[in-house]
Amino acid sequence: MAAAKKTSPSTKSTKKPAGKAAASAPIPGSPAAEPPSLAEPTEPREPLPTKPDQRGPEPVSPTGSPAGERAQAGAHLTTAQGVRLPVTDHSLRAGPRGPALLQDHHLREKVMHFDHERIPERVVHARGAAAHGVFVANGSAESVTSAAFLAKGAETPTFVRFSTVLGSRGSADTVRDTRGFATKFYTTDGNFDLVGNNMPVFFIQDGIKFPDIIHAAKPHPDREIPQAQSAHDTFWDFVSLHTEATHHTMWNMSDRGIPRSYRMMEGFGVHTFRLVNAAGETTLVKFHWKPAAGVHSLVWEEAQLAAGMDPDFHRRDLADAIEAGAFPSWDFGIQTFPDTEDQTFEGIDLLDPTKLVPEELAPVQVIGTMTLNANPTNFFAETEQVAFHTGHLVPGIDITDDPLLAARNFSYLDTQLTRLGGPNFAQIPINRPHVPVNDMQRDGFHQDAVHEGVAPYHPNSLDGGCPFLAGDDVSAFIETPVVVPSGAKVRESPNSDVAAISFDDHFTQARLFYLSMSPVEQAHIAQAYTFELGKCYETAIRERMLGVLAQIDADLCATVATGLGLTAPKSGKLADVEPSPALSQVGEQWPTAGRIIGIVVDDGAPLEDVRAVRDAISAEGMLPLVVGPHGGVLDDGSGDPVVVQRTFLTARSIEFDAVLLAAAPGPAADAKVPKDAKAGHAVLAEVPVDPRVALLLAETYRQAKAIGGWGDVVSALTAAGCDPTAAGIVVADSASDVLDEVTALMGEHRVWDRFPAAV
Ligand code: HEM
Repeated sequence: MAAAKKTSPSTKSTKKPAGKAAASAPIPGSPAAEPPSLAEPTEPREPLPTKPDQRGPEPVSPTGSPAGERAQAGAHLTTAQGVRLPVTDHSLRAGPRGPALLQDHHLREKVMHFDHERIPERVVHARGAAAHGVFVANGSAESVTSAAFLAKGAETPTFVRFSTVLGSRGSADTVRDTRGFATKFYTTDGNFDLVGNNMPVFFIQDGIKFPDIIHAAKPHPDREIPQAQSAHDTFWDFVSLHTEATHHTMWNMSDRGIPRSYRMMEGFGVHTFRLVNAAGETTLVKFHWKPAAGVHSLVWEEAQLAAGMDPDFHRRDLADAIEAGAFPSWDFGIQTFPDTEDQTFEGIDLLDPTKLVPEELAPVQVIGTMTLNANPTNFFAETEQVAFHTGHLVPGIDITDDPLLAARNFSYLDTQLTRLGGPNFAQIPINRPHVPVNDMQRDGFHQDAVHEGVAPYHPNSLDGGCPFLAGDDVSAFIETPVVVPSGAKVRESPNSDVAAISFDDHFTQARLFYLSMSPVEQAHIAQAYTFELGKCYETAIRERMLGVLAQIDADLCATVATGLGLTAPKSGKLADVEPSPALSQVGEQWPTAGRIIGIVVDDGAPLEDVRAVRDAISAEGMLPLVVGPHGGVLDDGSGDPVVVQRTFLTARSIEFDAVLLAAAPGPAADAKVPKDAKAGHAVLAEVPVDPRVALLLAETYRQAKAIGGWGDVVSALTAAGCDPTAAGIVVADSASDVLDEVTALMGEHRVWDRFPAAV
């Protein structure tokens, strides 16, 4: 082959034929659409157009539909290349019973994609559920931050993912654990992520300990058990030795560790953040989410039953509530503290993520409200692929030197690089900011964008200087120029001498939390420690943990020790603390919208009452579920049959916040042990009431939930072992009176008086 003759652009141009057209023809090879200026361009402008000889791919979605649409398109089944297919049930074979042929590209493509459907689950917080929402600011934060989304009236789309920490993707929702509460705000200044939990404190003070606490809490590495729980030796081994975990562990052992619903959890940013206003003044803050429905928990029996009966309990609850129009909402609030040099408040070290600031010392000021109003369309695309990051900050919000936060800012990008398969995960639809992105990043796995221009570097002149740096006239993220303390390079605890409660104090606030609980909540905590330590194999670990409890409260330690059959160590001098009543869940009235009431009926029940009660429940924004002896409808010939949503076979106490009896149903046709194990409940074998209904009532009673009934229902209550005159049991002639009283009881969440500790 003859060697190509090298020609310079000027040589080529001299070879063009002479004439007018040739004189104006451009010389090929110009690097950009416009010639550069001599000096660096400084006047911001939109990116240059592409050169006339260039064109990107046609603007279609990943599935070939017109730009803007994202989903599969077209009425016909196709290959990934859009070729329509007549058959997808049989592979291509040499004769119907012959060998499969290598040329079957449809088989190869279909199975190849299936083989790669899974991506690594999150290393922590693997199991989650999410929803879309909107945040509306009330303007109260305007004086302390320039963040655009916190200006009065600003409306910002959000996406929230709730999660458990320890379990795998397929684990149960209701295990005892911390819950993640991660919110992505798609603000006009770019994305802001608040990656928080439902507890205001954390197990560790320095992110370098995160692998240790997670390795200890995850299933044992040899047998990979137990799944999604902390009731095992390695967890208690670690937290009993690394006692900075004591405060968070106390929260986990409290009722907060088993939330009733994602809708009924508080959320916390945990760390102290630094807000900056337009004048550059700074304020330290802690972020809070306060649920409109109140903060409520399950009881342990419900949590355990739900883990078996309905492992998707929280996921279903969130999706059902949104579908029913009972939109969950939270007030967003801040506790504010002066940005002093020592970064303490009332003796509490604000840089220590194992400490909270009691609301009695720094009230939560509401700065806006978030409402979740839509379920995701596709779990994988949205809930699984969303990527939160504590470093996603916007102008007006900055971080502090909390050593846990520093490690988190490193960690999330790193893990998402692996989980989402490359550096372009910010381009996944759920992660995209709702503002222009011009980051000069290029290429990489799964690059979705078709970038134009030739100068993805700064400074440049070939792309007209684009993109330009933000000047004083536009809002931009600027790290607050705080003075960094000087000192020697060390690896040691950041304990502050100025703070009375700083990094080295591991017990004062655990005691504060315990003493802030009502007697019922304290009893639940003692029970939880006894259960969890009782599941440990090693006595030494139990004894060591009793040593920790002795430093929190002598009674708590003694109760747990008795349950474990061990001797309680003596408590030394315990911290003198002022309880914080705001930490207790007991003692307030809450809205009942979104709560679920079961109405037990049989074929002979007066259906006009059932219809009236059902409609009254719906009118209050609650969800009535009719529980009958069989599926289908109950028909009294009125022309308005009552639809049965749950049967005695499918209903279980965990689903209902209260139960109403419209009848005392006798045993239904399938009330037989071989058909329904619940029918064999030993205590209830010989009763005149359907044993599944009796079990439903017995559990509802034990779980301290309200029970009501009208007509001749006392026999059912008695058969279930429920004293008809006990607290929280309402029997009256009028169905509507019963509903009114039961609704009022539900406003307190539980019939607290029915717990033995309260009595
Ligand atoms: C205050 C302490 C912490 C809180 C409140 C917290 C909260 C969360 C939440 C809510 C998620 C789930 C996000 C989602 O739904 O996608 C998460 C995930 C994660 N966290 Fe943390 N975390 C904390 C500490 C840490 C630390 C110290 C590290 C590491 C040094 C860490 C590493 C991770 C990782 C690797 C993930 C998985 C992220 C992903 O794959 O997308 N976390 N965390």
